[in-house]
Amino acid sequence: MLESPRYLWRLVAIGRTLARHNALFPFELLPQARPLLRLARPFVNENAAGRPGQRLAAALEELGPSFIKFGQSLATRTDLLGEAIARDLATLQDALPSFPAAAARATIATDLEQPVEALFSDFQDRPVAAASIAQVHLATTTDGDEVAVKVLRPGIEKAIERDLGFFAWLARLVERTQPHLRHYKPVEAVAIFAQVTRRELDLRLEAAAAVELAENAEGYEGFRVPAVDWRRTGRRVVTFERIVGQGITDRAALIAAGHDPDRIMENAAKAFFSQVFKDGFFHGDMHPGNILIDREGTIVALDFGIMGRVDMADRRHMAGILVGFLERDYVKVADVFFAAGFLPDDADRMAFVQAVRSIGEPILGLPLEEISFGRLMGQLLAMAEQFRMQTQPQLLLLQKTMVVAEGVGRLLNPKVNMWQLAQPLVEDWIIAHLGPKARLQQALDDGLQMAGRLPHIVRRLDEALERERTRHVAVDRVKLFQGWFWPLVVGVLIGLAVG
Ligand SMILES: Nc1ncnc2c1ncn2[C@@H]1O[C@H](COP(=O)(O)OP(=O)(O)O)[C@@H](O)[C@H]1O
Ligand SMILES: [Mg+2]
Repeated sequence: MLESPRYLWRLVAIGRTLARHNALFPFELLPQARPLLRLARPFVNENAAGRPGQRLAAALEELGPSFIKFGQSLATRTDLLGEAIARDLATLQDALPSFPAAAARATIATDLEQPVEALFSDFQDRPVAAASIAQVHLATTTDGDEVAVKVLRPGIEKAIERDLGFFAWLARLVERTQPHLRHYKPVEAVAIFAQVTRRELDLRLEAAAAVELAENAEGYEGFRVPAVDWRRTGRRVVTFERIVGQGITDRAALIAAGHDPDRIMENAAKAFFSQVFKDGFFHGDMHPGNILIDREGTIVALDFGIMGRVDMADRRHMAGILVGFLERDYVKVADVFFAAGFLPDDADRMAFVQAVRSIGEPILGLPLEEISFGRLMGQLLAMAEQFRMQTQPQLLLLQKTMVVAEGVGRLLNPKVNMWQLAQPLVEDWIIAHLGPKARLQQALDDGLQMAGRLPHIVRRLDEALERERTRHVAVDRVKLFQGWFWPLVVGVLIGLAVG
């Protein structure tokens, strides 16, 4: 409570900054704030340039690191701010003036408990990048390795803690005084945001994420992760193998360097799909600034501060939703939401089916290369919010990442839908986890319940066998399906007999 005056004052200061950019509109969500908005009117700069979302982005940039991060996370919440504003927030630039190299050296020496000269034979004082939380210096280790060293901003932990305290206070205030906003769970949302942001402040976690991703990626084609130098890594410093390469956004430049952009795109699509569906651990910040193409044409991911995890249940849900859309089976899509427990049992099922159809039909009428499954998923999650869906942060991050990945894909080749490229993987995964095999497994589990669906299952099985044959895939799996078939029949018959 003692903090309230301080936070109130902070709120006023923030209000002034927002007014200067004519970006007070988020407060219109709060009816009680209307008199305050009227008070602020004389301070509003009507000449501020740009769309509302751009003005808000400019104000958040001025407010500093936590607000930049906050704006970036709001960019996933089309349900709160609408698509146009969310899209503008997604462009929030995370570039800040650099801090002095002397401070970076001091941080390294303190954190690693050794003088910089003992660790690096060469340390370039001019950073190659400076963002809200850290900056990156190129260096050569005393072992002779070329590396990139990421160092936290001095005092960043304290600044972020202060802002996180403010966000939590504001969220409590909103939850207490705004019943109509309660289902957005502001307190919980801020708590999750705080957790993610704090995690980014411990660079050992980033290094660990890089190693985990690297292990998963061993079998991927044309995708890798720079090695971590643990001897030169601590809470406030992380050292990676230096990657020499070029950006991914310039198709012509890639071709000029002798690379095949289409191949790169295929590898990127497969790597992304494998991360999400095979490993359940994905890079959650896949914008072009975090990707380099090395001399061999291999995609190298950088920046492992934001990673996402999806458990097997959610992977199945996602796949079920996508398959439902592709089959234009909107009841199936809606059923996933109820079966997953995302929507409360008493939500209006048929109204939700109708809503899902209203999202699916216009998108699925487009040519395949124009379909964005990330945006489709975004609209769906936003719609589900209106049916009182519990916010699923892991799905929101995944959805945002899909949108970003699709954007990168479009730069590489606008004529191809990246999911098409991952199709063989997608099919294998779906057959293994949602397809006949998985279904038969479930059928066995459910025994009698499934008896009525036997013809349906047999048909699916035939389809699967046919698909296997035409694709000349290993005979093993055909056997596997057959292996499932007879136990199923016996199981169902026993079930019928017992029933
Ligand atoms: N291993 C590396 N090799 C070469 N350049 C790197 C490496 N790591 C980072 N960089 C450069 O530094 C920039 C910022 O690094 P990044 O890890 O993305 O930090 P931030 O979290 O601040 O975005 C990258 O966009 C890239 O240009
Ligand atoms: Mg980055």
